[in-house]
Amino acid sequence: THSLTKPALTLYLAAPRGFCAGVDRAIKIVELAIEKWGAPVYVRHEIVHNKFVVDSLKDKGAVFVEELDECPDDRPVIFSAHGVPKAVPAEAAKREMIYVDATCPLVSKVHIEAERHSEAGLQMVMIGHDGHPETIGTMGQLPKGEVLLVETPSDVAGLEVRDPSKLAFITQTTLSVDDTIDIIAALRARFPTIVGPHKEDICYATTNRQAAVKAIAGKIDGLLVIGAPNSSNSKRLVEVGSANGCAYAQLVQRATDIDWRSLSTISSIGITAGASAPEVLVNEVIDAFRDRFDVTVELVETAQENIEFKVPRVLRMPA
Ligand code: F3S
Repeated sequence: THSLTKPALTLYLAAPRGFCAGVDRAIKIVELAIEKWGAPVYVRHEIVHNKFVVDSLKDKGAVFVEELDECPDDRPVIFSAHGVPKAVPAEAAKREMIYVDATCPLVSKVHIEAERHSEAGLQMVMIGHDGHPETIGTMGQLPKGEVLLVETPSDVAGLEVRDPSKLAFITQTTLSVDDTIDIIAALRARFPTIVGPHKEDICYATTNRQAAVKAIAGKIDGLLVIGAPNSSNSKRLVEVGSANGCAYAQLVQRATDIDWRSLSTISSIGITAGASAPEVLVNEVIDAFRDRFDVTVELVETAQENIEFKVPRVLRMPA
């Protein structure tokens, strides 16, 4: 009968998508810390920006707080994957707390770059999003006011630098690759000798997820990015979709967020997930489409990833 005939839909599934090595490691760190020290284990800031992940760790005994002063001295605390200002581990050490830093090694690499350049007498410019924990953490590697922040090419004109010939830049790891090229060009135009990383500090996971969205953007009537509203890399995936021709590009946390009315006439959809979004939520979204459409899944894989980061040594040793 009529009600049994579902409209046909091609679902382009972007790959790589979802968890990156830094997120995978950060979640493991919390789980291993609970195994080693028992509950509760405190976590300063959402370990990764995803409610589903945070809720499942809460169930296992993690307690999420925003600041260290909300933690007792005698329970372990974990710092999130985004990184923390230097003052945070310093405070934990002063209070003689057990702490484990789950900062992604690719963020730590940027922290080290900033320190190295600063020690060499260069003033730092950071390309990043104001208020994002990664930006706060990276800028917090140096004394307050030492790192200048730019968010857009037009911010470059307003920079007040100590010495235009003694500058270096670093970037947030989860920026839009294309937008960052424009900001770096503006920096180099105004400060021709500015020192920078070989390309930028955007990580492999961010780069690969954006490239996969570009590969499907021309084929689809709509794009859904599974990710949290505070997830930088997820928001960038929506923007990459829009910038590459998707008239409809939306961030959804899970299947219940999908606005089916907007999708009633589509015959193709693209699906990807931010670096902090678990694959169960991708499957949930695909199942929701299968309920309403006769779905053919096309996997579009633009890169393969086999990066894995070890957890800190303290969690590799027996209790
Ligand atoms: Fe690290 Fe990039 Fe993931 S910086 S946490 S690998 S998004």
